[in-house]
Amino acid sequence: MIILGIETSCDETAAAVVQKSGNRVTILSNVVASSAVLQAKYGGVIPEQAAREQIKAIIPVIEEAISRSRLAISQINAIAVTYGPGLIGSLLVGVETAKTLSLVWNKPLIPINHLVGHFYANWIAGAPAFPCIGLLVSGGHTDLVLFKNHGKYEYLGGTRDDAAGECFDKCARLLSLPYPGGPQIAKLAQKGNPKAFDLPRPMIDSKDFDFSFSGLKTAVANLLKESSPKTAYLAASIQQSIIDVLVKKSVQAVTQYKVKTLIVAGGVAANQKFREELWAALPEIPISIPPVDLCTDNAAMIASAAFFQKPVKNPLTIQADPNLALTT
Ligand code: KG4
Ligand code: ZN
Repeated sequence: MIILGIETSCDETAAAVVQKSGNRVTILSNVVASSAVLQAKYGGVIPEQAAREQIKAIIPVIEEAISRSRLAISQINAIAVTYGPGLIGSLLVGVETAKTLSLVWNKPLIPINHLVGHFYANWIAGAPAFPCIGLLVSGGHTDLVLFKNHGKYEYLGGTRDDAAGECFDKCARLLSLPYPGGPQIAKLAQKGNPKAFDLPRPMIDSKDFDFSFSGLKTAVANLLKESSPKTAYLAASIQQSIIDVLVKKSVQAVTQYKVKTLIVAGGVAANQKFREELWAALPEIPISIPPVDLCTDNAAMIASAAFFQKPVKNPLTIQADPNLALTT
């Protein structure tokens, strides 16, 4: 079974050709074009601008993915596309392209929830054992999910305000670091003392699985109004606050639901210190974290998720849904 995946939910334009034989999901090609240069210039993603870039990039990116897979179009069995959540203009580019290709090439179309897709990066070259706890930590989401099986998941909790990645990005901005801020803070933090500043760890002791990160950003803003601390020390302290909360809640979920595996996904999972602290906190269960290039937005994870879902009967009924939630 071979699936062409398409992902355009935020500013990336991505296409990938992925194969499943038996239990093994392997990437044949994985192409990601991002408007990172524009983002860095404007300090973030400008939705209209992202969609305009995606309209230009989508066909070349799909052509490149097919060409790199060294397969003929006739060898592709189905198309998978992200239909939400995300930016409406961006989602439309992928969804309408996928619908058109599905009709023209006469191939089934499988709509994928972007958040579910992130988790399925863990099924590439691996097969995590159910039940598992899924922790999604990206620029737009911080969610804990209980996966009982494919297509059977339960939302446990998530952020009430800023996502973990958003907190990294906003704090980085306060420190005059370029966007995206997560990798910048991580790099600086290597030279700093994480105990230098006693920053808040919002909701760390709450018994639920919710998160809140906006207070941390405010604390950093207030600190910077009063003094000019060493950037590396502050970066290390910010990173440590975010990691402490994420690790504590993950351990709490794994223990309460007695799961076999923890699967982590999303851009923040690229953070090396976070990975090391998770492994140290949960030595008794396998923790699956995708390689860095599969943590951030890509289409291979969308194709991977599609192997475990059914195509829709009529591809033309698929609608982009910017507010799509994580429900079964
Ligand atoms: O999953 P992703 O690529 O896009 C969304 O769907 O949001 O995640 C992007 C987020 C950004 O907030 C970025 O700052 C963060 O992931 N990020 C990191 C690291 N690499 C990316 N955060 C902390 N440490 C990193 N190494
Ligand atoms: Zn994402």
